[in-house]
Amino acid sequence: EKGGFPSFMEKEIHDQPDAVAKTLLGRSDIDGKLTLDELRIDPELLKHVDKIIVLACGTSAYAGQVAKYAIERWCRIATEVELSHEFRYRDPIVDANTLIVSISQSGETMDTLMAVRYAKEQGAKTVSICNTNGSTIPRESDAVLYTHAGPEIAVASTKAFLAQITAAYLLGLYLAQLRGNKFQGEIKDILADLNKIPAKIQRILDNEDQIKELGVSMKDAKSVLFLGRHVGFPVAMEGALKLKELAYIHAEGFAAGELKHGPIALIEEGQPVFVVVPSPRGRDSLHAKVVSNIQEVRARGAKTIVIAEEGDEAVKAYAEHVFYIPETDTLLAPLLSTVPLQIFALALASAKGYDVDQPRNLAKSVTVE
Ligand code: M6R
Repeated sequence: EKGGFPSFMEKEIHDQPDAVAKTLLGRSDIDGKLTLDELRIDPELLKHVDKIIVLACGTSAYAGQVAKYAIERWCRIATEVELSHEFRYRDPIVDANTLIVSISQSGETMDTLMAVRYAKEQGAKTVSICNTNGSTIPRESDAVLYTHAGPEIAVASTKAFLAQITAAYLLGLYLAQLRGNKFQGEIKDILADLNKIPAKIQRILDNEDQIKELGVSMKDAKSVLFLGRHVGFPVAMEGALKLKELAYIHAEGFAAGELKHGPIALIEEGQPVFVVVPSPRGRDSLHAKVVSNIQEVRARGAKTIVIAEEGDEAVKAYAEHVFYIPETDTLLAPLLSTVPLQIFALALASAKGYDVDQPRNLAKSVTVE
């Protein structure tokens, strides 16, 4: 049942091309029109949504944070992402024009369920992005968009995360289509790029040995930092969470721009720092900014490990290790850049002899508040 892999987690990392492909399947036609009939929320209502609040916990919340960048850009709808357990207790502003998008692999996370119930009571419409058919959160929501990642057994979420980002992107594109805004013309191209993602993930998996070796070689690390910007920021936090969960070592993900506001004080000789570098072809000179962040930490002794787009030769001068991922649209890059971080955490924890499927103190679904 582990498909010949030593752990469910390793199998599930390798299931990712399929998880993304199945989540995309049958949800658009050849003309690039989204057909999310399953949503069953009156399109008129969706046209009038003036705020989206994504509710989730843990890795699922990082999927929401990635999706926020895309939804705001494509739909021009203000989108907040909030941890479910924080949401209910702050008297949030929610009304009939608010669309709640909950993200939960299990569909049973109590914190998220309670937050969805609370939002419904306030009159909001609720959509659940979920991986488990017939579970409680989708049953209690107005609509559900299933991620078709297949059952996820390992406690650490991997394939569900990529499937959640994919589903949230489909929802964003669908809303953009409904609302007929100026990104209309881009929808077809983005869908075409999304459809190329499974093969690109596979290419990363085919070259996993290099990152595995690095994970094994770093098994005695005491602390690992992760930096990212834009969509790379939640990816950095997800990379850090995987390492905390599996290897029980201190790990932290930061927004690269935040470094000089405090975290750079942590950097000392030999501190490993992963940096998720955006595409040099992207907008807003993000690439140059992240490269200068790499230089800043390196000048203070950090050992830099860089995830960059194929062809990005500029980063080589500043990195002890560079892992290349295939080219894609900036917004889609998390579907690729997360994969080496998962493999790294898996390899490091395995080298320490830990049970990667059942990390200590954790449960697969957290059904208590
Ligand atoms: O089932 P859910 O997606 O609602 O679970 C949310 C979190 O408990 C979950 O993502 C957790 O953070 C994982 N262990 C992460 O690997």
